[in-house]
Amino acid sequence: MDQSKNPWELNAEWWQNSFTNGMNAEYSEQLLPLIVDLMKGFQKVLDIGTGEGQIIRALEGMSIDAVGIDQSQKQIKRGKEINPSSFLLRALAEDLPFSYAFFDAAISCLVVEHIERFEESFREASRVIKSGGRFVLVMNHPLVQSPGSSWVEDWTTDPPEKYWRIGSYLREELSEEYFGDGISIPYTHRPLSRYLNVLNDSGFVLTRMIEPAPLNSDEKNSEWKNEISYIPRFLIIVCEKTSGTN
Ligand SMILES: C[S@@+](CC[C@H](N)C(=O)[O-])C[C@H]1O[C@@H](n2cnc3c(N)ncnc32)[C@H](O)[C@@H]1O
Repeated sequence: MDQSKNPWELNAEWWQNSFTNGMNAEYSEQLLPLIVDLMKGFQKVLDIGTGEGQIIRALEGMSIDAVGIDQSQKQIKRGKEINPSSFLLRALAEDLPFSYAFFDAAISCLVVEHIERFEESFREASRVIKSGGRFVLVMNHPLVQSPGSSWVEDWTTDPPEKYWRIGSYLREELSEEYFGDGISIPYTHRPLSRYLNVLNDSGFVLTRMIEPAPLNSDEKNSEWKNEISYIPRFLIIVCEKTSGTN
């Protein structure tokens, strides 16, 4: 890709300032603690699409040898500035620069939606994780966060009601998520079956699915708090690398 058009080079600073180093409660209060928990007991861990390495930093002090890879030069550069001893490399998820079965586990957090050839990235993850190892995939929940999904408030009923519109769940499509201030990031929505079937074809078996309740700290006193509390933002898929396949 022409790096002057790579959305993660163009928007690296925005991401770093908005979503890392405690700037985003979903990360600091929910995702990072969950990931740390899921990586406990594994020694060599790969973080695929590490960004500026916040997961690698969260794993520090756990006797884990963690390596992060990301395709964005700016993300890797920033990660090395924050912690020069973090082991971060510039590389593609679809072409990992590691040998067969090098890692005990791998994590990829909010990355797969941004990878066009995601099948190759799963095959590569499977290649570098040893048999019996773990692969953790964190994604925007594909069932409820599909393009066109949103809240709908119905003020014609008494009392008014609020619904979550599912959107075009089955349509696999590339969209842009707009964050304001001219920042937009392309992502591909895919139905859950696409991910699970490709994981299976790549030599993984599902061991656990986690759908954390949304934090919604701003919504605690909202009149819609019951509706909002039951629509998850994230899906976490935990897999085991089986022997034999790949
Ligand atoms: C939403 S950020 C998540 C960063 C990090 N995983 C975290 O949770 O803090 C997505 C990252 O995926 C990286 N990325 C996207 N496509 C990639 C690919 N094909 N190979 C490696 N990294 C990729 C981007 O450069 C970006 O840093």
